[in-house]
Amino acid sequence: MNKVLVTGGAGFLGSHLCDRLIARGDDVLCVDNFYTGNKRNVAHLIGNPSFDIMRHDVCWPLYVEVERIFNLACPASPIHYQNDPVQTTKTSVHGAINMLGLAKRVKARILQASTSEVYGDPAVHPQTEDYWGNVNPIGIRSCYDEGKRCAETLFFDYHRQHGLEVKVMRIFNTYGPRMHPEDGRVVSNFIVQALRGQDLTIYGDGMQTRSFCYVDDLVDGMIRLMDSPADFTGPVNIGNPGEFTMIELAETVIRLTGTSAKLVFQPLPQDDPKQRCPDNSLAKEKLNWQPKVSLEDGLKETIAYFRSTLTND
Ligand SMILES: NC(=O)c1ccc[n+]([C@@H]2O[C@H](COP(=O)([O-])OP(=O)(O)OC[C@H]3O[C@@H](n4cnc5c(N)ncnc54)[C@H](O)[C@@H]3O)[C@@H](O)[C@H]2O)c1
Repeated sequence: MNKVLVTGGAGFLGSHLCDRLIARGDDVLCVDNFYTGNKRNVAHLIGNPSFDIMRHDVCWPLYVEVERIFNLACPASPIHYQNDPVQTTKTSVHGAINMLGLAKRVKARILQASTSEVYGDPAVHPQTEDYWGNVNPIGIRSCYDEGKRCAETLFFDYHRQHGLEVKVMRIFNTYGPRMHPEDGRVVSNFIVQALRGQDLTIYGDGMQTRSFCYVDDLVDGMIRLMDSPADFTGPVNIGNPGEFTMIELAETVIRLTGTSAKLVFQPLPQDDPKQRCPDNSLAKEKLNWQPKVSLEDGLKETIAYFRSTLTND
């Protein structure tokens, strides 16, 4: 049994991670300021003797005794991270400093939930971990992209300077139950619009592609990375390389929800990448990880979740 800290544990990915860690016998402390997360995501764990929850902002130091830290705290959707961009950068940078400081004090192994956004609007395709990215440092997405890039720098400097055991995971678009219904990300947008009988909004011409990883696959990769040998730090891409255009995704959601909604087109937001797709070779080689859940199966689970929560709200 490990004593594990999950920051951002009441969020979409964090809550699934807490579930999986508890199921395998770990003792989990979930820390969250509930900015985008919700206690409802972990309500089923409250009362479990292996689970604790603490309201805390990672921009402030934390003093707890743990052996492993998963640092997920950070709003992940553009609507949320652009709402208070200064706080977003602080969460990534001060949050990383505070969690790395904690890891150093208690000699814990620490994993950073980084992002494919560190590649910006990539000039190479698919992206391998040695690509340095094409990021606008002063645009409206930079609070997130540059915040996460700086956090990666801090992780590697703590590793080199203080010998910390670090793991950096670059997460590509992930979807599944417990996504925030209003977070503006394409999968939740399309599903919520379809279930409400509204037309599905496509930004740009809809030919831009994204890859979509189901949450169970993602959490599996995260745990494998944390458990990997100490000399493997990453960064490692975790994502599903299957590429779909926005139009293909919208049409699949329309078919699976059975809505009669249509597609409506709006201008593309600033700095929206045209194409993003992970090269997973490193994850396959070092973690023996590959995504298993098809887009269709993952969408069915996600639609079932939104169907039940939207009716209950
Ligand atoms: N979901 C994805 O597709 C994706 C892709 C790339 C990277 N990531 C990264 O994975 C992590 C989790 O993403 P998610 O999709 O679960 O998003 P989310 O918004 O559902 O979860 C983030 C959690 O962090 C908490 N949080 C935010 N600021 C905080 C702070 N200052 N102190 C404490 N808690 C704070 C939020 O309340 C929320 O519970 C994030 O770091 C995100 O950048 C996610």
